[in-house]
Amino acid sequence: MSIKCFLKMKNKEKIAMITAYDYISAKIAEAAGIDMILVGDSASNVMLGNSDTIKIGMDEMLIFIKAVKMGAPNTFVVGDMPFLSYQISESEAIKNAGLILKAGADAVKLEGGKNVAPLIRKMVEYGIPVMGHIGFTPQSYKQIGISSKGKTKTEEDLLIESAVALDDAGAFSLVLEMVTEPVAKKITESISIPTIGIGAGRFCDGQVLVWHDFLGLNRDFEPKFLKKYLNGFDLFKKAIENYSKEVKDGTFPSIKNVFKPIDIESSDQK
Ligand code: KIV
Ligand code: NA
Repeated sequence: MSIKCFLKMKNKEKIAMITAYDYISAKIAEAAGIDMILVGDSASNVMLGNSDTIKIGMDEMLIFIKAVKMGAPNTFVVGDMPFLSYQISESEAIKNAGLILKAGADAVKLEGGKNVAPLIRKMVEYGIPVMGHIGFTPQSYKQIGISSKGKTKTEEDLLIESAVALDDAGAFSLVLEMVTEPVAKKITESISIPTIGIGAGRFCDGQVLVWHDFLGLNRDFEPKFLKKYLNGFDLFKKAIENYSKEVKDGTFPSIKNVFKPIDIESSDQK
């Protein structure tokens, strides 16, 4: 998969994207044949327990990105640019984008509308594939609030203007987060690059969901746009309870799990 493939998929085949943050999860995602993996700065919340994405930095993001590329060497990996890694100056932004690519990502993603279009244009000029991200942009929640975008004509116009600016700047795709369905549809029809929706309705060119959310590991997170494909929290909890119970009642380890002198010829050294 390459950015060319994703451009060609527009109007032909939907793009399925999920986030991942570690080696084994990335391996599972690649085995499942997912089109794209995002190492999102949502790692701040779901991996580190922070209350927002502002609190994660480059150092932490690079660790997650490296681990994901190790687990999914043949899958297109997008690395999120964390808060303050691209806002300070163009040179810092390009350096940080480069570090994300060096860590193994195939592209970077950064939040913002037409205000970041000149920066994206520069990055693209230097050979860095960039995914845009508009609508609800979590890094600016303190300013814009946590709510869907595109509900008013002013918001709609701004979103469309931004989407067109990012397309013009050379972004290869665009995340639409919590955008009203009609506006997301309009954007999708107005630009040449694929839109990847999260809470942006049925008519985007692709969808993205956060690992812990769609696998039901993030138990109490139940926004309207989310569909849980597994009851992960309860399944993991049950397994841990079983293990704990078996340790206490002596069921585990059983004879099958014990090393004995007689095992030496078979697998004792394992
Ligand atoms: O960080 C993230 O997981 C994201 C997706 C929600 C698009 O940016
Ligand atoms: Na993000």
